[in-house]
Amino acid sequence: MSTVKVHDKQFEVYLSEAVILERVKALAEQISQDYAGKKPLFIAILNGSFMFASDLFKQLHIEAELCFIKLASYKGMKSSGNVVTSIGLEDDLFGKEVIIVEDIVDTGKTLHHFLPKLMHQQPKSLKIATLLHKSEATTYPLALDYVGFDIPNKFVVGYGLDYDGLGRNLKEIYQVI
Ligand code: IMP
Ligand code: MG
Repeated sequence: MSTVKVHDKQFEVYLSEAVILERVKALAEQISQDYAGKKPLFIAILNGSFMFASDLFKQLHIEAELCFIKLASYKGMKSSGNVVTSIGLEDDLFGKEVIIVEDIVDTGKTLHHFLPKLMHQQPKSLKIATLLHKSEATTYPLALDYVGFDIPNKFVVGYGLDYDGLGRNLKEIYQVI
C-alpha cells in the first residue's frame, strides 16, 4: 500500500521497509566497529524508538546492553514541554559507554533537556543514534553521532512513529500529503 489514512490525514510512502532496514544495518555495522571491545549500553526512548531499537540491536555484532526508558515532562500537573524526568532508568551509568536511541530528532528540545541529566551520572561516553533527523527544524544545539536519514520538515508516521497514537505498526515510513 503506497498511501494510508491515519486519523484525519493522508500519508504516502517515503521510506520503504527495505531502505530502512538497509540503513539500520549500516548504522549497526558502524556502531559495531566504533564500539569493538566495549560493551555499550543502549538507552532507547519509548515509545517511538522501539522498532528501530529492536532492528538496530539485532544487527550488532558486539556485546551490548539495552534498556528502554520513557521521558515525562511535568510542571505541577501540567506538561511544561521540558523533560524533567525519566521513567525506567535503573542502570547506574557511571563509567558506561552509553548510546541513546531515538526515533526522530525534530526541534531537539527533548534530548537537549534530557542529556544533562544523564551526564550528571558521569558515563564514560554518551552518544546519540537517531533514525530520523529533521535538521531544518532543529533549533536546540545537539550533536548527533549516528543519523539514519535526514528528512524534510514534514510530519511522518510508521516504523514506530505515531500520529496521535496510531500508525506505529506500519513497516514503512510515511510522510503527510
Ligand atoms: P523534539 O522536537 O526533537 O524534542 O522531538 C520530540 C518528539 O516529537 C520526538 O521524539 C517524536 O516522538 C515526536 N515527533 C517529532 N516529529 C515527529 C513526526 O514527524 N512524526 C511523529 N512524531 C514526531
Ligand atoms: Mg520520541
